[in-house]
Amino acid sequence: MPGGRVGVLLPGPADFPAWRAAARRLLGGGVPPERVEWSVAGEGPGLFAAAALPEGEGRAVRVPRRFLGLAELAIRHRAPARFALLYRLLWRLAGGEAGLPAMAADPDVLRAEAMARAVRRDAHRMHAFLRFHCVEAADGPRYLAWFEPEHHILEAEAGFFLRRFAALRWSIVTPEASLHWDGAALRLGPGGCRRDVPAEDAQDALWRAYYAAVFNPARLRPAAMRAGMPRRYWANLAEAREIPRLIAEAPRRAAAMAARGAVFPRRPQPGRPWDVAGDMPADLLDRVDDPAAALAALREELRGRNDLPLWAAQATQPVFGEGPPGAALMFVGEQPGDEEDLAGRPFVGPAGRMFDRALEAVGIARGETYVTNAVKHFKFRPAGRRRLHQSPDAGDIAWYRPFLKREIALVGPRLLVTLGATALRAVTGRPLAIGKVRGGILRTEEGLPLLPTIHPSYLLRLPDPESREREYARFLADLRQARREVA
Ligand code: URA
Repeated sequence: MPGGRVGVLLPGPADFPAWRAAARRLLGGGVPPERVEWSVAGEGPGLFAAAALPEGEGRAVRVPRRFLGLAELAIRHRAPARFALLYRLLWRLAGGEAGLPAMAADPDVLRAEAMARAVRRDAHRMHAFLRFHCVEAADGPRYLAWFEPEHHILEAEAGFFLRRFAALRWSIVTPEASLHWDGAALRLGPGGCRRDVPAEDAQDALWRAYYAAVFNPARLRPAAMRAGMPRRYWANLAEAREIPRLIAEAPRRAAAMAARGAVFPRRPQPGRPWDVAGDMPADLLDRVDDPAAALAALREELRGRNDLPLWAAQATQPVFGEGPPGAALMFVGEQPGDEEDLAGRPFVGPAGRMFDRALEAVGIARGETYVTNAVKHFKFRPAGRRRLHQSPDAGDIAWYRPFLKREIALVGPRLLVTLGATALRAVTGRPLAIGKVRGGILRTEEGLPLLPTIHPSYLLRLPDPESREREYARFLADLRQARREVA
């Protein structure tokens, strides 16, 4: 029908192959863009749809690879004009216009690129802000997530979730469609509503605690927070519920931090003039029938040493391990941080809170474990009122190592868990890379089983929610393995 309008009904809102097949037939029939009425099945027919598509395979044109990539993304955009825009670009390319790079300032190209960017951003947010909630079904756990994408990205992003969660059975429900993985096959289903997915599960408390732990009240930037975690996703995110409280409390907490920073660490006590071998009764230290007393003696020995590494003199106090002697699990961290130095207890600062939450998540009671550090003093560099953590070097680790070894012997755990590279080095005496040995059980020189994992502060330093989620899950897996080893 020369001059009349041609209607194209696409089977889905982001069906690139169907759009491409239709576009080829339109090109083959010489139908210019302004005569085409695009619509999507189920979304109502095009207003002027009249003639059907020209018959046949149509005309395949060679297009720059960049156009294909752009079109595959832009077609997922929600704007109804996307199909027409892309066909107009194709028509122009087929008509011999210069390639897309030469059309960089062209309004059609700019529009398509803006659409592609929006789709990419939406996908990134889906990866970061989608949360699965576990539901115990009769045939085992199932993980459900509710997400409201801005664009038609659900099917295109299925691969991401499949790769990530292949071993779980999950469903992602959106207002327009749902995706279901049963461990073997992926199925597309109808849309649903938020009520189809439980609002909260046990993991939510962890997310909230995690977010609160990484939130720095002294660096409160609400605009940046909103940009990083847009409000439209807050309803999905357990941690977002913490935001109003954290913002409200930030000025008070920042002032308290500043005041605390002003407390200059105490000068060290002059070293007590005795050591274990001298004034301390050696038999007390070696009394394995009373390991608590022996541990206390070891602590006193450390306090009394007057040959500490020079920097240790800055610390408020040595921070020794805590927990019941005889604990089956013994955790070894790196060194006390700012809060530990003031409190005199290991793992009570931000990394400690992260550690506590992870232990709780896997059902390990911290009070039944023994928790200590490779290095027993806080090593830091003063920066104004702040004390900036400095990693202990090989010499520091070696200096404290005899204390750690004695402590391990007195506690007598069935399994050691080293948190981070310093602890691994301190326990094994070797500079091993965690990435290379993680997942297996090593042995100390004395033959004690050792499970290496990351330090919880590593999780606090990860910049994006995606990698945090992944690494946190790996950390939990390591802790679960530790629990199984001593069960
Ligand atoms: N990091 C550690 O390694 N140990 C602590 O006690 C606190 C933070």
